[in-house]
Amino acid sequence: MSNEASGKDTLTVRDNRTGQDYEIPITDGTIAAKDLGQIKVGDDQPGLATYDPGFVNTASCRSAVTYIDGDQGILEYRGYPIEQLAEKSNFLEVAYLLIHGALPTKAEYDAWVHEITYHTFVHENVKSFMEGFRYDAHPMGMLMASTGALSTFYPDARNITDADNRHMQIVRMIAKMPTLGAWSFRHAQGKPFVYPDNDLGYTANFLSMLFKMSEKKFEADERLVKALDVLFILHADHEQNASTNAVRSVGSTQVDPYSAVAAGVGALFGPLHGGANEAVLRMLRRIGSKENIPAFIAGVKDGNEKLMGFGHRVYKNYDPRAKIIKKSAEDVFEVTGTNPLLDIAKELEKIALEDEYFVKRKLYPNVDFYSGLIYEAFQFPPEMFTVLFAIGRTPGWLAQWLELVQDKDQKIARPKQIYTGDRRLTFAPASERWA
Ligand code: CMC
Repeated sequence: MSNEASGKDTLTVRDNRTGQDYEIPITDGTIAAKDLGQIKVGDDQPGLATYDPGFVNTASCRSAVTYIDGDQGILEYRGYPIEQLAEKSNFLEVAYLLIHGALPTKAEYDAWVHEITYHTFVHENVKSFMEGFRYDAHPMGMLMASTGALSTFYPDARNITDADNRHMQIVRMIAKMPTLGAWSFRHAQGKPFVYPDNDLGYTANFLSMLFKMSEKKFEADERLVKALDVLFILHADHEQNASTNAVRSVGSTQVDPYSAVAAGVGALFGPLHGGANEAVLRMLRRIGSKENIPAFIAGVKDGNEKLMGFGHRVYKNYDPRAKIIKKSAEDVFEVTGTNPLLDIAKELEKIALEDEYFVKRKLYPNVDFYSGLIYEAFQFPPEMFTVLFAIGRTPGWLAQWLELVQDKDQKIARPKQIYTGDRRLTFAPASERWA
């Protein structure tokens, strides 16, 4: 093979097992994995495949929802930079943008807000279903189960080929997620469930369902409403992350969107994904004071544990969401008073960013490093943090699901494996083996 560039958008590969050359088209910086299937040592042998646990270098779809440049720390929803959306938009407008692909006109926005607002109530049986959980049930478990349970209340949701029907389920899910999330929180506290207040905006209503007691109307501080709304915006989508991949993978079976989103909630629950902010708080509490930071960092470097809230599969630079959150934290602490763990977090960040271990591996604070501190200032227990993430992520999951079900390239998600087990063993019945 020559070293000359031909300028063609193809990849020429030689299979050294056979000496044969293959020319494979390159499209959008990728080769189609199925094109490798033609590379075989013999006609009766399997074609070449790629081995990629965790999909670290495999594109699973074409998507126009979210753009990330991890090296530069850029995040855009439908082309709009996250910084501008966080500063100038609101969560429901961002949800519209993600779902519809463009910003709404005034009439479209009003209709969207009206639709979402009037679907915030859930069937009364959902309430009794949620009351049946154990007193100490984790709210994420309750959210996952109740999201999945919605599919039994809306069996029409199975008709995923009908655009109006899809729209209906999307509206329902974005509208009801705060209700389910707030009730999961109230259940753990042994407090009565609060019904939605449709006079309030999306985020103010959520706070009302969380914290209202005997007052006629719950009025949250506007600065807190804004801060939580910004947090929802920051979490609204993040292209093919683990939970979105779960939604797409389950959605690829053509199941209803409630079941697909329930899978996303399950994936988000994990400590390496949405559960990280809960883990950050526990970690900060365990560190306890600034003097203990060096010993903790030494333990991380010895591989005993991870510095939670640091590192990201995609961002190899400061996570742009972490920057906005750090600023948002100041607004919240102005209302609530500062959180003593903030000092430990800032010191931890400073030490880590100067330490060769973290510098070499390009480990920076991610969205979860500071978000837990804000959530705590709202007096959310750590178990609730991931629920807040899930509410924010719902429009993203649904935008990705919508794209999936309309994408002609998509198929049921069914990866290959490399089989490493035994073959052709002879089975002896238990009566012989145990004789
Ligand atoms: N603390 C210490 N070392 C780390 C950390 C960390 N937080 N993250 C990565 N490393 C090390 C890792 O041990 C590996 O070192 P080596 O090369 O010596 O084996 C190297 O950095 C590369 O890490 P990786 O595990 O190959 O990276 P990944 O892309 O597979 O994992 C991650 C990404 C986010 C799962 C990981 O950084 C992590 O576990 N971070 C802590 C959990 C966390 O904060 N998760 C929230 C992610 S942001 C919110 C979201 O999108 O869900």
